[in-house]
Amino acid sequence: METVLSINNLTKHFGRIKAVNNMTLEVKRGMVFGMLGPNGSGKTTTLGMLMGVVNKTSGSFSWFGELPKDEIRKKIGAVLEHPIFYPYLTGQQNLELNAMIKESTPANIPKVLEIVELSDRKDDKYKTYSLGMKQRLAIASALLNDPIVLILDEPTNGLDPMGIAEIRKLIKKIAEDGKTIILASHLLDEVQKVCSHFAVLKKGNMVYTGPVEDVGKGGLVIEVGPIDNQLHSALKNFHGIVSMKDENNHFLVTLQEGIKSQDLNKYLFEQGIAASHLIARKKTLEQQFLEILSEAPTS
Ligand SMILES: Nc1ncnc2c1ncn2[C@@H]1O[C@H](COP(=O)(O)OP(=O)(O)OP(=O)(O)O)[C@@H](O)[C@H]1O
Ligand SMILES: [Mg+2]
Repeated sequence: METVLSINNLTKHFGRIKAVNNMTLEVKRGMVFGMLGPNGSGKTTTLGMLMGVVNKTSGSFSWFGELPKDEIRKKIGAVLEHPIFYPYLTGQQNLELNAMIKESTPANIPKVLEIVELSDRKDDKYKTYSLGMKQRLAIASALLNDPIVLILDEPTNGLDPMGIAEIRKLIKKIAEDGKTIILASHLLDEVQKVCSHFAVLKKGNMVYTGPVEDVGKGGLVIEVGPIDNQLHSALKNFHGIVSMKDENNHFLVTLQEGIKSQDLNKYLFEQGIAASHLIARKKTLEQQFLEILSEAPTS
């Protein structure tokens, strides 16, 4: 697969704040790549560097195998935190203005309005738009140049459940049309729903990267005890078990993917066994990410 973006040891320090630390990753064509991290983990700073609006401290990145320059940036559409539109102009007029600024043709406007499903509201003033419509107009503007890559920073922030669902559906549609998408989010659930691959950021450090489908993989490992025959045969008959072995005074049990320790506990209870010792040893990736995401920001 063709590499769209290659990041090498990219670093940004704001004084003593290490916003982004030695980030290295690759985004291939067709991926929907999620940058997942809690507030202050460096997502916006990373996207800002990639768009050339934040100066890097060190490291490098290349788009389509080339060092960043203006010409290349035209192949990238971005919706960063606060898109600027004029409240008293209509959606159509705002896009015309944007097309002029970006030196792209206004001929694309009907098409992008169609994609974001705003064609029927194009002649209404921007200030009358709902938050979700404003976000969709921002995406329309980013698509004006027919970019190869679309960058979105927290695209569903502040929207209601309906607006969130619409934006997620739109992102999937744009990806299916063949665009590569890079999006920042602090929601694991969002990344799982729309992304194909992702990186997890924690205080400026990338702590994980891989395909989204791996998140749910790998069962829990649980200590159950004390060892006795009744427990042993009950465990052997539990449907959610992958393997078990003796260890000191307890069994070490690997559960199938998706089986929780509560499921095991409930099963044992139904068998008339009250295990006095039952602890999860290894956490699933999902649990680890949820813990990272719930940590308080550093600043
Ligand atoms: N212009 C700046 N000057 C000083 N510090 C900054 C600046 N921009 C960002 N930072 C700091 O860099 C760190 C990363 O911020 P960044 O905005 O990239 O995080 P984020 O992951 O996008 O967070 P959020 O989820 O809140 O949008 C934070 O500690 C932030 O305070
Ligand atoms: Mg941010």
